[in-house]
Amino acid sequence: MTTLKTRLTVKRLHPLFVAEVTGIDLTVPVPREDLRTIWDAFNEHQILVFRDQAFDDDSQIAFSRNFGELEMMVAHPGNDWNPGHISIMTNLGKDGNMLPLDHPAMEHRLRNEAWHSDSSFKPVAALASLLAARIVPPVGGNTEFASARAAYADLPAERKAELERLTAVHRITHPDMDEDKGYDDEAKKRHTVTHPLTRVNPVNGRKALYVGAHAQEIVEMPPKEGRRMLDELTAFCTQPQYVYSHHWRDGDAVMWDNRCTLHRATPFDKTRYKRKLHRTTIAGKAPDSAFASMPEPRMASV
Ligand code: OGA
Ligand code: MN
Repeated sequence: MTTLKTRLTVKRLHPLFVAEVTGIDLTVPVPREDLRTIWDAFNEHQILVFRDQAFDDDSQIAFSRNFGELEMMVAHPGNDWNPGHISIMTNLGKDGNMLPLDHPAMEHRLRNEAWHSDSSFKPVAALASLLAARIVPPVGGNTEFASARAAYADLPAERKAELERLTAVHRITHPDMDEDKGYDDEAKKRHTVTHPLTRVNPVNGRKALYVGAHAQEIVEMPPKEGRRMLDELTAFCTQPQYVYSHHWRDGDAVMWDNRCTLHRATPFDKTRYKRKLHRTTIAGKAPDSAFASMPEPRMASV
């Protein structure tokens, strides 16, 4: 009797970034050489779309841990008030029924419809996020991704040099949302930080603009001017040619590089369809030396 062996395959989905990874089960311990292939593909393609994964929270956490420490979420509406390693993106309440649109958790999650990089308001910003489908709507509810690395590469050299000298202030609170429900003063203060406007991937030296909704001022500029420039840079990075829109299928899990991509949720009929995705967030290291600690693979990667 022969057994059908699947092979890990990496296929590019967009001219500039994003690859689909098939032929591997991530819910069981993954061989080190496959982890190395995944890590190399992640650094190169910035977004990995894994298909046909049957993650539960435990297996999702276990797989995510291969890439570093996981961020710990404080109890807030975005994770159903559960502190821990899982953030829940959903329009459902704990009972599995759809929440009314004016529910605080629903209002809070509207923030995700602005382009952002996860946890950029933390002193050590996130390296990666892994969002795995639990329930997906048949239409709408795509997650869009933009390559801030590809956008940066297209800037003229003088502009790059100018931007590299600047620093942005990132805040957890959203400037266009008048109410900042869910965060006390202490959390707001703790989550106001500065980061250089360009972020480097230490593995391959590739640079990217580090912007998005949390980046709200430029230290070296008057607040309004800085804000205007940040808005322009986010708009520049999210032009159609730099964007990939992910339509969720059952079994999908998407891992994105928060150092060089922005993402946002898109609307769907929240009164008609259910949507539930669970996210783990892999913390960065200070400075960006993530994976200095990853043991060398036993086999050369392709
Ligand atoms: C996230 C996020 C967008 C979405 O999980 O960090 O922003 O489409 N999600 O749910
Ligand atoms: Mn996010």
